[in-house]
Amino acid sequence: MAIEVIHTIAELRARLASERARLASKKDVGLVPTMGALHQGHGSLIDRAAAENACTVVSIFVNPIQFNDPADYQRYPRTLATDADFCERHGARIIFAPSTEEMYPEPPKTFVEVEGVGEHLCGKFRPGHFRGVATVVMKLFQIVQPERAYFGEKDAQQLAVIERMVFDLSVPVKVIPVATVREADGLAMSSRNQHLTGEQRAVAPLLYRALQEARRSIQAGERDRDRVKESALAILSESAIRVEYLEIVDASTMQPVERIAGRLRIAMAAWVGSTRLIDNVFVAVG
Ligand code: PAJ
Repeated sequence: MAIEVIHTIAELRARLASERARLASKKDVGLVPTMGALHQGHGSLIDRAAAENACTVVSIFVNPIQFNDPADYQRYPRTLATDADFCERHGARIIFAPSTEEMYPEPPKTFVEVEGVGEHLCGKFRPGHFRGVATVVMKLFQIVQPERAYFGEKDAQQLAVIERMVFDLSVPVKVIPVATVREADGLAMSSRNQHLTGEQRAVAPLLYRALQEARRSIQAGERDRDRVKESALAILSESAIRVEYLEIVDASTMQPVERIAGRLRIAMAAWVGSTRLIDNVFVAVG
């Protein structure tokens, strides 16, 4: 079935109402929120949604209120025509691609703020970012009212923010985490990778290598947080990669840990030239 691209909230609501009426016995709607410039990382979220729901909606909206850097917002790639083909090939039924005016006819006065979870890591360096993410995701949940919504572990802090928002506000949506999809050399797929020059692309996989090294040292018995971090930073020391943060955090609260114990994420943001990349790995101890 050909994919439908819908641009307004009213049209999407009407379309989903008739879809739900038609799907008498199997009514589930799955939502995959994205900002477009789709790649195989998004593809695995859409595949999973298409396998688990009768109707999969992919939203494509470059959300201005989550960008703290106007230049980053301006240069964010916008590729709706190829994204539509991509979504169709992955089994989505509907693309919701609203304009900025449709989503924010007036500057919003209401925001969703998830305390704590969004405070460290990216939250420290991108003030207001997670407030913008939580607000637009809540708005998309209200518009689509999906049974399930899919988020990548690549953005682990974002996933934790959304999980906490859904928990605290009793939002009737099941949040499904999906594993990070990587290039053959380990670099996590990201729309921002296309900004890298050939030389930068060649060093970018060191991010993941450094995280793997930190995990390896924990698995080998290292329990000193600073020594674990040093083992990762050593991998990057000779490279042109500038680390913004490297933290070991509790996997659900995203608070930095003193002791290496429990379910942890080792998370990093780093600059390769003028491109900011993030990645993380999970490790369970004890
Ligand atoms: P975007 O960066 O387009 O990512 C959309 C979804 O795809 C997110 O859940 C993200 O974690 C997931 N994703 C991206 N790269 C991935 C990879 N390599 N492997 C697995 N999943 C990956 O994240 C956003 O958009 C926005 O903040 C959004 C949630 C849409 C709110 O505006």
